[in-house]
Amino acid sequence: MKKNKISKNWINKQRRDIYVRKSKIEGYRSRAAYKIEEINKKFKIFDNKFSIIDLGAAPGSWSQYVIKNYKNCRILTIDLKNIDSIDHCFHIIGDFTNDKNKAKIKEYFNKKVEVIMSDMAVNTTGNKNLDSLVTGELCLDAMKFSIDMLKPNGVFISKIFMGKSFNEIVEFSKKNFKKTNIFKPPASRKDSKESFVISKFLR
Ligand SMILES: C[S@@+](CC[C@H](N)C(=O)[O-])C[C@H]1O[C@@H](n2cnc3c(N)ncnc32)[C@H](O)[C@@H]1O
Repeated sequence: MKKNKISKNWINKQRRDIYVRKSKIEGYRSRAAYKIEEINKKFKIFDNKFSIIDLGAAPGSWSQYVIKNYKNCRILTIDLKNIDSIDHCFHIIGDFTNDKNKAKIKEYFNKKVEVIMSDMAVNTTGNKNLDSLVTGELCLDAMKFSIDMLKPNGVFISKIFMGKSFNEIVEFSKKNFKKTNIFKPPASRKDSKESFVISKFLR
């Protein structure tokens, strides 16, 4: 399919999408806000949680959702891209996988945190296997970081794709957390291989 035909299809899909329309009305920067809302409603992630890290945060709708509903939170956001500022959020522009940026995150909180959420995904190449492999690597890296950085009752949430690294991620989560759930929120497009892993309570 030609590139301009793909982008026309994408625009038409966006116009029909109820989550896109709702996000415009409710002031969210992207429809992704409803994914974290649905995850939170099912797994009660943010009740009595105050320190949060948002990995791959741009344009910022996950953090917008949290701040709108949990006013006492402090969030550190990181992304390769800049984001427009959000109250109670401190943003780092950079690659999360870089050790210097991990050190900056640790230094910012200077203590363990309660929630680490990652929606990191690479720009799609069109090769679904490659995309899921690279996003799987990002998820594993974020999970390893979380084991070191979360309080014992902490929660880790991450985007994952059904693919080669799926089983490895689930096994690694089960080994390191007492509870592991896989959930595809209704807001996640049906034709996407995306799902989310929710890992609770460090072993
Ligand atoms: C699906 S978007 C996140 C949407 C976001 N949760 C929201 O609600 O607005 C994925 C983001 O991951 C970021 N990303 C991908 N690889 C990254 C990395 N290594 N370090 C930091 N951010 C990364 C991309 O720049 C992109 O902005």
